[in-house]
Amino acid sequence: MFALLPLFALLPSAFSRPVPRTIFGLGNSTADDSASGAPSPVSLATLNSTLLKPAQFARVAYCASATITNWSCGLPCQALQNVTFLQSGGDQGKIPLYYIAHDGTDNTLVVAHEGTDAKNILSILNDAEFGLVPLNETRFPETAGKNITVHSGFQETFERTADSLLAGVMSGLASTGAKKVLVTGHSLGAALATMTGALIKGAVDSSVDVTVTGFGLPRGGNEAWADFLDSDVGVTFMSNQNDPVPTVPPKFLGFQHSSGEIHIVDDTQQNFIACPGQDNTNCATGNNVLASSVANHLGPYFADITFGGSQCSPPS
Ligand SMILES: *[C@@H]1O[C@H](CO)[C@@H](O)[C@H](O)[C@H]1NC(C)=O
Ligand SMILES: *[C@@H]1O[C@H](CO)[C@@H](O)[C@H](O)[C@H]1NC(C)=O
Ligand SMILES: *[C@@H]1O[C@H](CO)[C@@H](O)[C@H](O)[C@H]1NC(C)=O
Ligand SMILES: *[C@@H]1O[C@H](CO)[C@@H](O)[C@H](O)[C@H]1NC(C)=O
Ligand SMILES: *[C@@H]1O[C@H](CO)[C@@H](O)[C@H](O)[C@H]1NC(C)=O
Ligand SMILES: *[C@@H]1O[C@H](CO)[C@@H](O)[C@H](O)[C@H]1NC(C)=O
Repeated sequence: MFALLPLFALLPSAFSRPVPRTIFGLGNSTADDSASGAPSPVSLATLNSTLLKPAQFARVAYCASATITNWSCGLPCQALQNVTFLQSGGDQGKIPLYYIAHDGTDNTLVVAHEGTDAKNILSILNDAEFGLVPLNETRFPETAGKNITVHSGFQETFERTADSLLAGVMSGLASTGAKKVLVTGHSLGAALATMTGALIKGAVDSSVDVTVTGFGLPRGGNEAWADFLDSDVGVTFMSNQNDPVPTVPPKFLGFQHSSGEIHIVDDTQQNFIACPGQDNTNCATGNNVLASSVANHLGPYFADITFGGSQCSPPS
């Protein structure tokens, strides 16, 4: 459905003149600190036990809100047994949905953020109005003095539900007794998950283990933000083949990925690599822009996981 959209058509006029080779991480930027260490293979069995469930929970976030509330969203909900819905927020319009649920099998509190379609995320990411702005240091006091800047659109969206979301997580931890939190999302939802992960990590005590995962994650902030995610949060994110979203906004505008990338090399479900360092040029950052595939943004991430609501019942 998203067959090879002409990517450059989505770029605002400021970028529509001949694009520097660095725009999607190709070539050299003025201060290129991309990692280039050799990736190592990761087995499907390892990914099944670590990232399959986070992908499944992120997939549910695209289904209609009313069907998430009673866990009746069709295949995406059926793939996850023994789950109790606790809270949701957002409106699936201007404010993307998030939900909080309890996974009884792993005694884990799950927070999943809805994303947006590939065309929409690319226009948001390439909209020159959404530059880097200072991270809200009132909300993240532990970042004071670190000069962290983040994508203004992501932060605005995050702020709209941050208070109710955090209150829901704290009461969910208290009511379930869970000592683990999983935060997950795809696309815009993945970018929001990194901010939500930082928020929860800053609010819970050290007895609570917080895991943050993303799929089709765009760059969300500057190098100081990437460093903070690495040192204080820990994010693992999957990039699928030639998905352009993980390569934007471009590094030359000051954006940088945190480390923790797992790259899907091809469609065989056999070739996955862990990419050391930030923006490793052997993984999504090194993609050839001419080979970009917007379809890769949706999946498949595991054999049968496609994001965007097409697998929900009713489809959304
Ligand atoms: C990138 O930088 C390296 C080292 O400075 C240089 O050898 C190489 O020619 C540069 N490549 C491009 C495409 O400018
Ligand atoms: C991974 O999970 C899928 C779906 O549950 C299953 O079909 C596949 O056999 C699993 N592969 C491994 C190596 O565990
Ligand atoms: C769940 O809610 C939806 C929407 O309100 C409704 O159509 C459906 O019948 C409910 N399913 C169950 C199992 O309660
Ligand atoms: C289902 O969840 C409950 C807690 O809500 C837990 O006690 C039970 O062991 C779980 N069942 C399975 C099969 O994991
Ligand atoms: C910054 O975070 C505080 C809560 O810590 C919130 O009240 C305030 O609205 C946020 N500021 C912006 C500009 O979003
Ligand atoms: C933050 O920016 C200020 C002003 O540019 C600079 O003096 C300071 O060293 C920077 N701090 C860090 C931690 O980079």
